[in-house]
Amino acid sequence: MPADPGPGLTFDEARVRVARLRVELRRHEHLYYVLDDPRISDAEFDALLRELQRLEARHPVLITPDSPSQRVGGTPRDGMEKAAHSSAMLSLDNAFDDGELADFDRRARELAGADVLDYVGELKLDGLSLAVRFGTADAGSRLELALTRGDGVDGEVVTPNARTLRSLPLSIPASELDAHGVPAGFEVRGEVVMPAAAFAALNARQRADGKPLFRNPRNAAAGSLRMLDAAVTASRRLDFYPYLLVAAGQPVFPSHWESLESLAALGFKVNPVRERLRGVDGLRRFRDIWLPRRGELPYEIDGLVFKVDAVDLQRRLGATSKSPRWAIACKPAAQQVETVIEGVDVQVGRTGAVTPRARLRPVEVGGVTVSRATLHNEDEIARLGLRIGDTVLVERSGDVIPKVVRVVREGAERRPFVMPSHCPACGSPVVRAEGEAVARCVNASCSARLKESILHFARRTAMDVDGMGEWLVDALVDGGFVQDLADLYELRVERLADLTKETKVSPARLGEKSAARVMAGLERSKEVPLGRLVFGLGIRHVGERTAALLADHFRGLDRIAAASADELEQVEEVGPRIAESIRTFFASARNRELIERLRAHGLRFGADAGDPERPRPLAGKVFVLTGTLAGMSRDEAKARIREAGGKVSGSVSRNTHHVVAGENPGSKLRKAEQLGVRVIDEAGLRALLTG
Ligand code: IVH
Repeated sequence: MPADPGPGLTFDEARVRVARLRVELRRHEHLYYVLDDPRISDAEFDALLRELQRLEARHPVLITPDSPSQRVGGTPRDGMEKAAHSSAMLSLDNAFDDGELADFDRRARELAGADVLDYVGELKLDGLSLAVRFGTADAGSRLELALTRGDGVDGEVVTPNARTLRSLPLSIPASELDAHGVPAGFEVRGEVVMPAAAFAALNARQRADGKPLFRNPRNAAAGSLRMLDAAVTASRRLDFYPYLLVAAGQPVFPSHWESLESLAALGFKVNPVRERLRGVDGLRRFRDIWLPRRGELPYEIDGLVFKVDAVDLQRRLGATSKSPRWAIACKPAAQQVETVIEGVDVQVGRTGAVTPRARLRPVEVGGVTVSRATLHNEDEIARLGLRIGDTVLVERSGDVIPKVVRVVREGAERRPFVMPSHCPACGSPVVRAEGEAVARCVNASCSARLKESILHFARRTAMDVDGMGEWLVDALVDGGFVQDLADLYELRVERLADLTKETKVSPARLGEKSAARVMAGLERSKEVPLGRLVFGLGIRHVGERTAALLADHFRGLDRIAAASADELEQVEEVGPRIAESIRTFFASARNRELIERLRAHGLRFGADAGDPERPRPLAGKVFVLTGTLAGMSRDEAKARIREAGGKVSGSVSRNTHHVVAGENPGSKLRKAEQLGVRVIDEAGLRALLTG
């Protein structure tokens, strides 16, 4: 007898039950993850999975690598191994317009010696490519190896991670393979994607935890799949969509279409958007249907793919060193229109960069009216040979800021743009350092810079101060109420409420309600995780993700400020340029003073509360503050107690551990004495804080 059958079931009964549970679980995984047609609730699914896990734990001999229980990811590995691809993983050539699409079809027809070709149209999913090898097993075929694209020749082994992808079968029974004519040793190549909804949820979680955000679903999918700890991969929703089936380096079926159909029949999640197309007209039709609809899909695509359907023709067409001649990626063209440059304004950014921006005669580009385009800097204007009054070609692709591509016609009365010698906001000199393309306002307290800094500080991904919009920032800076970021925390609700703005009708007050909302936003911002504060400070080259990585690594603002360039470069993604910029920021006396004032206002300078490495001498202790402390503000005391793991409550109860009493304590002191709660002074608090 291989194992103790455990209470209730004999070993044989357990074996039968395990087999049955696996069949059930696989069926529901397929219904849920491949067909999007769940038949049982998540809780019911979990109950079945837990039963399987319990039985397997009791009878480890019954565990197989393709059991649904193995999708949870095993022990983290030490590093990523590499392995060779069975054949090179190529990329695709692009066709951006009708002409390029027609060229592709013509070349393919000529090489194939055919009048008209049949194609398959698919979506080009924007994720990362994965090659999955299935090997021969006792009763069919089992997932053996999964490789990322790597350099196309060798890929990274991500087998444990791939096993967690619910839409990827872990094994295929022999009967299924036979029924569909697929040999047991085969390889599927496809794309791993993170659905848009899962991406949004993941980033929301990352933000709440003060962790680095992913730039887009593709990065999130790649980051999630290439985890040393497959348990993390398992916790993220990723899908595998196959687009190629090969065995022994060769396609299995005479047509690509049949490959896709067989993959679907074997239980793979083949994208339902696929169609057999005839000739270049078929390609155009598919393109005109699907490119405009790409915003409606539940995942991102970066175009379409057209493949010659007949495999013998594919063979005849072959490949260049980079891409097959039998397939092409069809990409949306950037949209371009002509318009006139009516003027050039300059904008002062938060780093003082003075950037020229074209004022355009308004035009529609792809359904959006465009009246401005970035010109980057003086060199760019010179490169374009652009003058005010010229007719130019403006391009807008996706969500990026429109840009000027080239001058189409010179204007009759054209005049050159001259970079102002003085800042339009504060009148200080504008200087262009040697070797730099960008001109900057030299005044560190320039009002335009300050406004941009405040807007950046307050943005949702930084301190998230609700209601701190452009109008309010203008009023605060122009009225002289705020001269640096720390001044924001000295605002009073009455002052804010009285701010007025000119409207078309009459001046309008901000009012108590809006003022209270801003004040509450400022108060809440004191609690944002360190990474977001670092981002909010607006250190040059330190974006949201770098800031979060810095916070994760150093776990304290003071430690970041004190770090050497070498120490900073230990952080992922930080190179000499970023390290230098961080050092420069903290070397400035002005910035150091700003940081001290922010500290005094109680902003969170330490790592997150969940950080296991940080000493938490006050963990689980509840404090109540009363009266004025001599050496720290109330906000600072609160922040330091929280940083040390303690809680701050507003009222004294039997659950209070310490009441910290300063000058002129209120009724809370009496209450503490009545309840017998310990009362300490500032020195006592400091002693507790240092452990
Ligand atoms: S076929 C030999 N089909 O696009 C050609 N590729 O530049 C194999 N991709 O990294 C590619 N969707 O991962 C093909 N339906 C699709 C695709 C697709 C996305 C990716 C693929 C590759 C890149 C090609």
